[in-house]
Amino acid sequence: MAKMTIQKIQAMKGVERISMVTAYDYPTACVVEKSGIEIVLIGDSLMMTMLGDTLTVSCTMEDIIHHTKPVVVGAPTRLIVSDMPFGSYNVSKEQAIMNANRLMKEARCDVVKLEGGVEMAHIVKAIVDSGTPVMGHIGLTPQTSSKMGGFKIQGKGEAAKEVLADALAIQEAGAFSIVLEGIPEQLGKLITEKLSIPTIGIGAGRYTDGQVLVFHDMLGFFDRFVPKFVKQYMQLNQEIVSALETFKDEVKSGAFPEESHTFAGVTEEELKHLY
Ligand code: KIV
Repeated sequence: MAKMTIQKIQAMKGVERISMVTAYDYPTACVVEKSGIEIVLIGDSLMMTMLGDTLTVSCTMEDIIHHTKPVVVGAPTRLIVSDMPFGSYNVSKEQAIMNANRLMKEARCDVVKLEGGVEMAHIVKAIVDSGTPVMGHIGLTPQTSSKMGGFKIQGKGEAAKEVLADALAIQEAGAFSIVLEGIPEQLGKLITEKLSIPTIGIGAGRYTDGQVLVFHDMLGFFDRFVPKFVKQYMQLNQEIVSALETFKDEVKSGAFPEESHTFAGVTEEELKHLY
């Protein structure tokens, strides 16, 4: 497969829907590479899905760099997007550029993603002007869930105006595409029609230019809770538990290992001297 680029993603708007999924390690990246899904996100959701936290705010630059490196190796042709962790871009433009540089140089991602609308537009512009492509992320922004009073749907009623203003500001700042999370379907449609850059929705309805899901959610691996917008394409958690139970039962009964799993190499005669 040819390498996915931001130009190819932009050319897909209005032509073909864009698919995106998270990955945080090498084996996951390898299966995503085989699937042909266009964009792989090393999201700070890894704090919840991989490390058991209840929020994403504790994610560090080191966490994202550590998890991006194996994904770059496992999915070499996909567009690799790394999340900028909370606190890595909200101090100054200089801090944001330095950390975007680190993600490009140390983690070797193609694009960085950061959360925020009008208030973060100057940061998006600074990073883009410094040479790193940016994917925006507005609506329900998990890094600032505390400020929002929890993981709540944004842009309902009159508040729709603010989310649209956020989308326009992030596009104006130079983002090449934008994630719309947790907003009413009709608002997702309106923003998609108003913007010239691709919108990737998660809980933003059916009319965005693309869709993103968290790997562990869509495969039914993460079972602490299932958000309404998630479709589970399989029940991996149950499948794994059942395989582990079978292993345990076979160890206890002696059914595993079988002869085919064993090694030969020493004769009975040779062993006799060892007893
Ligand atoms: O961290 C993440 O996985 C994300 C997606 C929910 C878009 O930002």
